[in-house]
Formats: sequence, C-alpha cells, structure tokens
Amino acid sequence: MKYLDNWEIVKKIDEGGQGKIFKVKNKKNGVFGALKLLHNSDEKRSERRGRIAREIITLRSLDVIGIPKVFESNESQLEDLSVNLYMVCEWINGVTLLEFRQKNKIDVMSATLITEKIIDIIEVFHRQDIVHRDIKPDNIMVEFVNCDELKVYVIDFGIAWSPCEESEAIETKTQQGLGNRFLELPELKPGRNIRDSRSDLTYLVGIYFFLLFNKYPRILLDENGKMPQSSISELDFPEIANHQRWSSIKRIFSIGFQQNINHRFESVSELRLLINANSDVSAMASNIEKEKDRLRSLFQSSENLELEKIQDSMMGAAKIFLNKIQQEVGSVGLICGGSGPNIDTDRRTCLCKFFAVKSQTSHPQVHFCLRIQFSSGRINAIVSVGDRADSTYYSGSVADSIGLEKACSETAIITSEYIISDFCDKFK
Ligand SMILES: Nc1ncnc2c1ncn2[C@@H]1O[C@H](COP(=O)(O)OP(=O)(O)O)[C@@H](O)[C@H]1O
Ligand SMILES: [Mg+2]
Repeated sequence: MKYLDNWEIVKKIDEGGQGKIFKVKNKKNGVFGALKLLHNSDEKRSERRGRIAREIITLRSLDVIGIPKVFESNESQLEDLSVNLYMVCEWINGVTLLEFRQKNKIDVMSATLITEKIIDIIEVFHRQDIVHRDIKPDNIMVEFVNCDELKVYVIDFGIAWSPCEESEAIETKTQQGLGNRFLELPELKPGRNIRDSRSDLTYLVGIYFFLLFNKYPRILLDENGKMPQSSISELDFPEIANHQRWSSIKRIFSIGFQQNINHRFESVSELRLLINANSDVSAMASNIEKEKDRLRSLFQSSENLELEKIQDSMMGAAKIFLNKIQQEVGSVGLICGGSGPNIDTDRRTCLCKFFAVKSQTSHPQVHFCLRIQFSSGRINAIVSVGDRADSTYYSGSVADSIGLEKACSETAIITSEYIISDFCDKFK
C-alpha cells in the first residue's frame, strides 16, 4: 500500500464497521499520525468508500484548531474498487470523551468548559456550512496539554454534510444510516437526511447532558412523552441540582431537546449565550462593583470634598436670604412660592427662583431670583427682581462664608424693598 512508503505502523487502535484505525509514525520526521484504512470487502463497500471520501474532502476543506489535519490520502481513487481507500491524519494523543467521562467525575464548571470548547470548534465549521451529523462522545477526543488544561477535538466527519461539489456528488452514496444511538434525531431518520446545523446543536446539548450525568440522552421524547432531562432525579445529582447554573442548564435541555427542529437553538451563538448565562450575570455584578468603587473614589476626591463644602455654604447663605425675605414680605401679607435653593447641574451654582404674591391670590406676582456662583476661588451673589437688571451684591473669597451670609442677609432687605415696591405698582 502507498501509505507504507511514508508511514510505519505503531499499533492498531480500533476496528469498527468502517475500517481500522492505526497509530502510525512518519518514517522521515518521526511525526505520529492516525491511519484510517477502509475494509475492502463487505457488502456496504460503496457506501463506506463514499463515507471516507467525504470525510477526507471535508477535513481537507477545514483548517480549524480542534479538527485533525489530513497528512496523506488517496480519495481520488474512489472509483477504482481495486484500491483500498485510506487517510493519515494528525494523531491526537488523548482519549475519546466517552472514555474520559467513564474514568473521571466531572463537575458542572468542567462540563460547561468542555462544552464551550466544542461549541468553538462547531462554530467554525458551521460558518463553512458544514454539518457534522454524528456528534457523540466517541467522536470527540480530549488531550491533556498539561495537568489541568484540556484540548478538545471533533473527529469522524464520515457522514458530515459539506457544500463542496465533490462531496455533494458522494452524498447519494451515504443515504442510509445517519444518526446514532447516543441521541436519535427525528430529522436524521433514514430517508430524511436533513442537512441542518441545528442537529449538531442538539447533539451538543446531548454532550452537555452526557458530561453532567454520564448518561446518553438517547431519544428526544420517550414512549411516555418525556424528554431526556425528565429522567434525571435531582436527588441523585445534588451538586448539580444545587448549582447556581442549574436553572440555566434546565433551560438548555428544554430548548435543545425539542422534537420540532424549529423550536430548538437556532445558532451556535444562541446556545453559547445560554451556556454562558450565569457567567454573564456575574460579569455584570462585578461591573456594578467596579462602578460603585469608581463613584466612591470620585466622592472622596479632594476636588469633590471642597465643592461639597462650598455647596453647603452657598445653600446656607441662600436659606438666610430667603428666610429674611419671607419674614419681611410676610409682615405685609405677602407669601413666597417657587423653587430653591437648588444646586445647579454644574455643581458650582446655587439657584433660588421665587415670586411673591398676596396670600390666597395668584395675581399680581413679583418674581425674584438669587444666584450664588463659585468660580476660580471666588463667590459671587447676584440678585434680580422683576424686570430690573441683575446686580451683583457680593463678591468675595470662597474662604469667607461668614461674609457671604452677612451679605445675603443685608441683600434680602433691599430685595424685599424692591419686591414690595413693585407689588405696589402692579396692585394699583
Ligand atoms: N486522529 C486520531 N488520533 C487518535 N485516535 C483517533 C484519531 N482518529 C480516530 N481515533 C480513534 O479511532 C476511533 C474511531 O475513529 P473514527 O474516526 O470515529 O472512526 P469510525 O468511523 O470508525 O467511528 C476513535 O473513537 C478514536 O479512538
Ligand atoms: Mg466514530
């Protein structure tokens, strides 16, 4: 065989219905490979030849981390039945997800992380319109990069659907046998052969289910009309049922395992959003803490503390002004209404906008306004009454709050004088 020119067999790995898998080593550079060699003699021969050819063509069209690269193959001899088809691809130094799960207990976070890694791989081939159609624990492999980091691979593209021309031509030869015992999907039953990426997403939800419960989901609806997750008793899996992700996990199953394909996850990103749901919430929570910290430090900044002190003294002086006016105009039966004192949005102005009116009436009104402003270390107090022009009654250092209060108190008397005078003019 041609592959023997370049590769020597290290050991046999697997022998299935399809063919044999060997670990092989490159004679020149010592690189390991996985040799997939087709059985040449059985009645389903042409279907199997079609499958391996499809697999090779699909793998060759993919350059994705997490999918083995093809080193060598002879799919061009598909039509020559005297030739055994084979391919040598990148060797994965790991175990299938099936073996991995059987040997390891996996917690919710690890199951989620592994599923997310598979999502990343699926996302890339879905973008190329390739649908795997046979995702199951023995077609996913995991490799330890170091003691706690796992690299994940998706293998076995034998019944994948790929939009490239050569592959489509072979599709007719693989009409039977889609679907698997891990999870039977109605759309992949014999004679249907739907090429819908949503099937892969449902398989992936099945993988999540398998990682969590070490159990195959098998069918979407059993004879009693129950979905796979209904067979799980929360009492048997307390760590999962008490996990903060449990409600999101149940949502993932109830969407992903829908019988009607239109009711399932529509895209990789939709599924990923839910798998990530809780981490998003915690990311939001951590952001609000960040924003709270930012605001606390703004409050504590010396500029802000200084401004607060100034605002207090402006508000205090404005209240003295208003009280005094209310006292003066009140003594002749007028009352004041309006708004203030308020600190304006620039945080450097204190504003009172009022009017005086005879008690129990709404007309005539005399409007008056006090504006105390802070700028460049100084405070100015400006008053206006009715149509009169603004006048600055006070200008002094910000350090002199007593001076400001005194000025406001004195200004209130003159302002009251103007208010009463204007009111007389309007009232007559
Ligand atoms: N690239 C690889 N590196 C290491 N082992 C592999 C590789 N490809 C396949 N295997 C092993 O061979 C088994 C069968 O391979 P697979 O491609 O799934 O073929 P089949 O069509 O027979 O299911 C896998 O479950 C895995 O154990
Ligand atoms: Mg397989």
